[in-house]
Amino acid sequence: MPKLKIVVGTVYGGALDVAEQVSPLFEQAGYDVVVIEQPSLKDLTDDTPDLALFCVSTTGSGDFPGDFVPFVRELKSQSPSLGALRYGLIALGDSSYGDTFCGSGRALDEILADLGGQRLGERLEIDAMETFMADDAAIPWVEGWIEAEGLAT
Ligand SMILES: Cc1cc2nc3c(=O)[nH]c(=O)nc-3n(C[C@H](O)[C@H](O)[C@H](O)COP(=O)(O)O)c2cc1C
Repeated sequence: MPKLKIVVGTVYGGALDVAEQVSPLFEQAGYDVVVIEQPSLKDLTDDTPDLALFCVSTTGSGDFPGDFVPFVRELKSQSPSLGALRYGLIALGDSSYGDTFCGSGRALDEILADLGGQRLGERLEIDAMETFMADDAAIPWVEGWIEAEGLAT
């Protein structure tokens, strides 16, 4: 069974909730799903998943959630080759923060791409100003993503 790792960066739990709500959709599509709340680089490099989905919110002024910072530091300092990584990205943010809207998810996407990761499809950005429950946006997006990218096994 192919493995999907859902890698979470959250402050208040919204991104974790998204991860937990979309997990069954991937299980139905034939994946063995693992949700990782405090990721480290080894989660990507030692046991590279067939697919990864990053669910990350933004805090501060476009900053990564605290529990996610060590992972980003490892990515930047060790510059691993992520050519084998196929991933999707769901960014949670709030457009009332202006220029830093979804800054963490956008920055992560750029870092992963620079290291050779292949994003499948477009990034989903969920705006708390428009969507009260992030799941309401995430679930249909994941359903469409699985179908559009032919991810079901
Ligand atoms: C102190 C604070 C700072 C925030 N800064 C930003 C920001 O710079 N950009 C942004 O898009 N959203 C920002 N947000 C909004 C959060 O990213 C948004 O509410 C998100 O849904 C929280 O997800 P979480 O529950 O997974 O932490 C901020 C929220 C708080 C409370």
